[in-house]
Amino acid sequence: MPKEKTFFACQACGSMSPKWMGKCPECGGWNTMVEEREAPAERGAAAQYIDSAKGRPTPIAEIKSEGEHRDIIGIGELDRVLGGGIVKGSVVLVGGDPGIGKSTLMLQAMDELGRRGRRVLYVSGEESARQIKLRGERLGAGSEGLYVLAENQLEDILRHAAEVRPDAFVVDSVQTLYTASISSAPGSISQVREGAGQLVAFAKKTGTPVFIVGHVTKDGSIAGPRVLEHMVDTVLYFEGDRGHAFRILRAVKNRFGSTNEIGVFEMKGAGLKEVKNPSEIFLAERRSDVTGSVAVSTVEGTRPIMAELQALVTPTTFGNPRRTAIGVDFGRFTLLLAVLEKRVGLHLMGQDVYVNVVGGLKVDEPSVDLGLMAAVASAFKDVPVPANVVVMGEVGLGGEVRAIAQAEMRVHEAAKLGFARCILPASNLSKMHKVKGIELVGVSQADEALEAVLG
Ligand code: TYD
Ligand code: MG
Repeated sequence: MPKEKTFFACQACGSMSPKWMGKCPECGGWNTMVEEREAPAERGAAAQYIDSAKGRPTPIAEIKSEGEHRDIIGIGELDRVLGGGIVKGSVVLVGGDPGIGKSTLMLQAMDELGRRGRRVLYVSGEESARQIKLRGERLGAGSEGLYVLAENQLEDILRHAAEVRPDAFVVDSVQTLYTASISSAPGSISQVREGAGQLVAFAKKTGTPVFIVGHVTKDGSIAGPRVLEHMVDTVLYFEGDRGHAFRILRAVKNRFGSTNEIGVFEMKGAGLKEVKNPSEIFLAERRSDVTGSVAVSTVEGTRPIMAELQALVTPTTFGNPRRTAIGVDFGRFTLLLAVLEKRVGLHLMGQDVYVNVVGGLKVDEPSVDLGLMAAVASAFKDVPVPANVVVMGEVGLGGEVRAIAQAEMRVHEAAKLGFARCILPASNLSKMHKVKGIELVGVSQADEALEAVLG
């Protein structure tokens, strides 16, 4: 019998090495190398699909395009993030922290499709069929076309899928998959990669859209989704703060649509509810008389979303001043504090500064620069920013206010929500038409902008 070969694979990034190392040379993770057995030469269940899908080089003009067939799920927020429904034969990876709501979202989506007369298959390797039924009852998911299978053996799953011939199917989760063609444990990087590879081959061959659920932890300690990103067509991340009910579905890769598109959901007792107008929710609990609170505008994909930025400035009691930012990029935040210090003349050296975006939202767009500066200045000077003012603009190191993208769309959203005054870059204003119901104030310097906001 030939000697079985083994190798060591990093469970965080997937890099391989013939010998054990305490620290992964690729990603720098400690204690992530785990011994795994080499895959035997014979190929897994997917081999048959791959072989028959082989092609020859063909002039592009002769390739028939069948047009993109999309199946609308019926959950608007999810459909939009996917680029307008599910594409036939596509593979979608849905990643996120454990407990964030991936299974809930997938079950609801499949149920919705089932309601539309589609046949869908939900495979879970984590829960028994009864547990899924119980969850389904809470969600009101019980449509006729929804088939449930509790299984983690990949070959069996594919066999059942080939029998049921679903219009879409979900595998929850890739970490629990087990394929007989590899002898390492479920959840190990080789298993995850091989399992996903076979699912991709199945999707391409049969034209079935496949959703693969994958857990990611912050430190990447579970083998996973990161290594799969290049294998699949679309990568969605489901994120949110466990302390908040809001969940954001973000496309980070999409071969069939735009990335940057987000879907907003709220986790309720009976499952996930779509949030059709996120701005209203993120601004809902805003109080008008508090200092350090500013309404800003961010664009996510095709949609403007307004959010509340809060800042708090307190004298430093000892040592170095503290800087804490939640929901905004930390580097950007400290940069803007330096601009406030040097170009506007606010003395923040002896002050602790805290910044937070309300509702667990993350904004990483330069257009919130000016709003962030206004929030800090308002907190520092103890002067509230009027509640009906929205602030937008990118700020450069010289303290100059720079033009932002899609200003018109943002202004319309603000006007729709009842804002009466908008502080925006002068360079944007000069190219814009008047908008009914909102006064537009163009600014070209940060100090001039803060003057306009705080008086
Ligand atoms: P789940 O979909 O199981 O998360 P994941 O698959 O990403 O691990 O969601 C788990 C959380 O969602 C759990 O903490 C309870 C909460 N939840 C609700 O608040 N309402 C519901 O109707 C359901 C089904 C779950
Ligand atoms: Mg789950």
